Amino acid sequence: MLDRKSSVLLSVLLCASLVSSFVEELDDSFMETRGDDDIWLIKFYAPWCSFCKQLDPVWHQIGSELKSLGSPVNVGKSDATANTGLAEEFKVRGYPAIIMWKKNLKYVYSGKRTKEEIMEFTHRVSGPSVRSLNSLQLFQHAMSRHDVMFVYVGATSQLKGNFSAAAEHLIVHTNFFSAARDVLPKVIALTSLPAVVLFKDGTYFTYSEERDGELRLWINRERFPNFSKIDSYTLYAMGETGKLVSLVLLEEKNMCERSVRYKVLMEKVAADYRDTYSRNFSFGFMEENAFINGLMMKDVIVPTFVVVNLSNDGYFLPQGAVDTEQHLHDFLKGILDGSIPCQGGNDVVQRVRRLVYDTKLLLSSLFVQAPLLGFFLLSFPLVIASVFLYLCCKARGGAGEDEDASEQCKTVTNKKSD
Ligand SMILES: *[C@@H]1O[C@H](CO)[C@@H](O)[C@H](O)[C@H]1NC(C)=O
Ligand SMILES: *[C@@H]1O[C@H](CO)[C@@H](O)[C@H](O)[C@H]1NC(C)=O
Repeated sequence: MLDRKSSVLLSVLLCASLVSSFVEELDDSFMETRGDDDIWLIKFYAPWCSFCKQLDPVWHQIGSELKSLGSPVNVGKSDATANTGLAEEFKVRGYPAIIMWKKNLKYVYSGKRTKEEIMEFTHRVSGPSVRSLNSLQLFQHAMSRHDVMFVYVGATSQLKGNFSAAAEHLIVHTNFFSAARDVLPKVIALTSLPAVVLFKDGTYFTYSEERDGELRLWINRERFPNFSKIDSYTLYAMGETGKLVSLVLLEEKNMCERSVRYKVLMEKVAADYRDTYSRNFSFGFMEENAFINGLMMKDVIVPTFVVVNLSNDGYFLPQGAVDTEQHLHDFLKGILDGSIPCQGGNDVVQRVRRLVYDTKLLLSSLFVQAPLLGFFLLSFPLVIASVFLYLCCKARGGAGEDEDASEQCKTVTNKKSD
């Protein structure tokens, strides 16, 4: 029999060994030791990265929850600065990077770093890329859970092969199912089988290779609802579809009457003129404006309409008030025919301006949050520079050369005492 003390010790040891087994530390040997059928969810971090540290408790919870669910997903982490071979293999460019490795494919997670969202990603990506819906109940359940879903209907075919291949790559972004014809409700009209049907916006669309082009590109273009709430992660992801994003920027809370009107107007035009615009535009509304402020390098006054080109960080603003449907059409058409100029962009000048803007923003927020620290951070380099210049002047003045230079130095050192 164990006495009390040693049983406590034993349980502590057990706990400790459990804790460490939730998340495995991976090094460069991973690529040799992993099994071909293993699925891994890996966090790449750098020791100095504070966002990585913030993620630690979440990562531990994810590890423990997946273990207790009996999930086949292994959870790991790797110091990308030490295990550069592995980081190179996974093309890690920033920290923390969250990547799922499955059947030799790598799926990069780019959403919010919360447990719920990462778990959702993990369940979706680790399972089969195409899940089969065997009953009407399952179909309805899937419909209730997903805003957007792609369903293959019919027997095995070349289209199914294309669908599965597309799903394998795009499972990070959206949901893929297959079903027999008699599983879908009768009201869904399918003129021929096999078919790929997209359900979103309370309706459905059938894919046609002739009209829509390559299946994978069509899925990538159509994977967002026609009009939805957009955060900066979604906005970024929308850039990959190559479409312009047409936005209403709103207050975060307490929408004023005008905001409500703008939002309704945008939603209506997006729905009623889907055929006209959906090839070129995604639509939505945004309540957090930091990303757009950064893009425009100024504080945007809300509510407003703005169209963003994420391929080149450019943006378009309406040239007058947008109060009617006609005004909004004029704005969108003006962008397409080139009569409304694109502002911003990502050329060198814009990038430098953005750098200056971001620095100013950082410093001013620092001053607001920690005035003393901000003051020291700013004044410290100035003091050092002044002392340096002062010493340099003295040396030069002593040698009796270059009077102009010492004048300049003095004005600089004088500034310090101001
Ligand atoms: C499947 O994809 C290939 C290559 O993109 C294409 O040529 C073919 O027409 C597609 N087949 C169907 C049925 O969509
Ligand atoms: C958006 O940016 C891309 C990349 O620079 C460019 O090719 C495209 O024409 C732009 N679209 C519009 C409508 O300006």
